Amino acid sequence: MEVLIVPTPDDVAVEAAAMVLAALPAAGPGVLGLATGSSPLGLYRELGRAASSGSLRTAELSGVALDEYVGLPPGHPQSYRATLEREVCDVVGLSRDRLHVPDGSGADLDALTAAAAAYERTIAGLGGVDVQILGIGANGHLGFNEPGSALTSRTRVKRLSDRTREDNARFFAAVDEVPTHCLTQGLGTILSARRLVLVATGESKALAISEALEGPLTASCPGSVLQWHADAVVVVDEEAGSLLKNRSYYDASAAGLPGR
Ligand code: GLP
Repeated sequence: MEVLIVPTPDDVAVEAAAMVLAALPAAGPGVLGLATGSSPLGLYRELGRAASSGSLRTAELSGVALDEYVGLPPGHPQSYRATLEREVCDVVGLSRDRLHVPDGSGADLDALTAAAAAYERTIAGLGGVDVQILGIGANGHLGFNEPGSALTSRTRVKRLSDRTREDNARFFAAVDEVPTHCLTQGLGTILSARRLVLVATGESKALAISEALEGPLTASCPGSVLQWHADAVVVVDEEAGSLLKNRSYYDASAAGLPGR
């Protein structure tokens, strides 16, 4: 695991974008795993710049979302499909036709379970994810894998925790309007990506980052699965990294990274 602690959220965006670009294939189709949330917005802006300057080829790029709410009407502005179309397709230049999002429109558990299995097949059909962009919830969740999620889980229906619904209520008129369930890639699905790049900024993420990086590998902190991945990169600003104990080692290691 590489941990980069940089001064500002803008620095997080620049450094994380470099880590993402380096993990995409130099030629042929690439598959980018996409997270929603405010954390990766600067990173998407940087990828948009890279696309404009020609260092990111979007023509053959596919996007694969981590998760989707269950039960929002098609086209709902807070659905993750609509969010990613606005915040990634329109910014990076990724074709909407090559944006893949789990289908949360199923009317019952059987339909949603079938959609989850279909999503796993979609990812496999693309040849897997080259680099998965991740944020982290204040409770340590990845995607919508809440504390207690199986470490080997695949895409499935999950209930959202009260904490997550409260955190996401800012995107809805009231907390009661936040869906109770979602389809989310499992932690095992996320671990199957060839590289993970997690970004976090601000004091509200400091505890989750310290537990994910320096606590035990445990379902109680889904973000701790990064410790299990052979190519995980974590880029945080000073505030999000403020509770990390091994800071001096991370800084020394980062300074020695080729190209830095
Ligand atoms: C949502 C998403 C996660 C995201 C998290 C943090 O719950 N499902 O993928 O990491 O929010 O969001 P933010 O970056 O806005 O703090």
